[in-house]
Amino acid sequence: MNNVKLAEGVYYVGAVDWNVRDFHGFTTPRGVTYNSFLIVDEKICLVDTVKAPFAEELIERISQIVDPAKIDYVIVNHVEPDHSSGLPMIMEKAPQAKVILTEAGKSGILKHYQKNYDFQVVKEGDFINLGKNKLHFIPLPMLHWPDSMASYLDGEQILFSNDAFGQHICTTKRFDDENDIHEIMYEAAKYYANILMPFGKLVGKALNKASQVPVKMIAPSHGVVWRSNIPEILHKYEQWGTNYTTDKVIIAYDSMWGSTEKMARRILEGVAAAGVNAKLYRLSAADRSDLMMQLLEARGVLIGSSTQNNGPLATVGALLTYIKGLRPANKLGASFGAYGWGGGAQKVIDESMASAGIKVDPSLALKWVPDAEELEKCFNFGLEFGKKILQAEK
Ligand code: FEO
Repeated sequence: MNNVKLAEGVYYVGAVDWNVRDFHGFTTPRGVTYNSFLIVDEKICLVDTVKAPFAEELIERISQIVDPAKIDYVIVNHVEPDHSSGLPMIMEKAPQAKVILTEAGKSGILKHYQKNYDFQVVKEGDFINLGKNKLHFIPLPMLHWPDSMASYLDGEQILFSNDAFGQHICTTKRFDDENDIHEIMYEAAKYYANILMPFGKLVGKALNKASQVPVKMIAPSHGVVWRSNIPEILHKYEQWGTNYTTDKVIIAYDSMWGSTEKMARRILEGVAAAGVNAKLYRLSAADRSDLMMQLLEARGVLIGSSTQNNGPLATVGALLTYIKGLRPANKLGASFGAYGWGGGAQKVIDESMASAGIKVDPSLALKWVPDAEELEKCFNFGLEFGKKILQAEK
């Protein structure tokens, strides 16, 4: 088992879950890692654990470096079980260890595992002295849970950022510069879009905190450790946190008998004719998590559905629920679709988009199968929407 050294006395001891393809609804075609880091100084400190089925692997990795019984501190940067469900097994091996976490972290751990460990609750500005290094604690409430925090190792200048800056990607290489950086950046954007997007306003605050200390490495709890592309990933987080958009439109739709699909394709041509980059997703075939990644920097979203039972198709309803939760900021939207008699899908889509914070333009609904004239209407609908996207605030 290869333990990777990040710096003097700092090791990667986490687990690589090559085969997981669904992370509570977030598709993970490249798998997931549960990163855990061991600091061997005068004191021994474990930063985060792993998902419970991988706890034995974690213990084996630690055992190659030190006897787990010698661990003095276990840092719980985040209670979510992908990082903390290995804690009970670690604490069996290291019963003397103090468990360091925020107040919200303590209540979360107590409720999840019903174990009263030797807790040390920390707040902003607190640190522990490990010997050569101090480990400082930086609470990041709601990035993305109330308990979330980062830890900063001052001597080696490593920021253990937990979920922030993470990516769901498995690789045998632990550093950004040892991998295809385009894949890493894609997965970092997908991670942000699907996990952190609703908390964008807090990202700026977190970046301010991070900018106050020198950082040689950012070691998140998922994916690779950033050491060569730190300015690039910080820049992307700054853009995403300030709702940066490009001239891009996402068209997402589903179609019962093909009429809404015909509309979607003509609308796409109209948007493209305006000079705007557009992407088309049929929801019965699309990957919702990838779609959200594409929507992250898009300025426009067009959602189409046939009407079924006075509302949208179920695949469209599922996307609307997802978007409503993630609240993408700074987007212009509109709906379209075909209906047979009463209609109703567009009203539901528009209301849902508005409740997600999307500025909604008038919709386009057509009866039965679109004829040539109506397809021209679709083209113009896309063209006008594309022009608005070019004029809208960046
Ligand atoms: Fe990776 Fe929020 O847990």
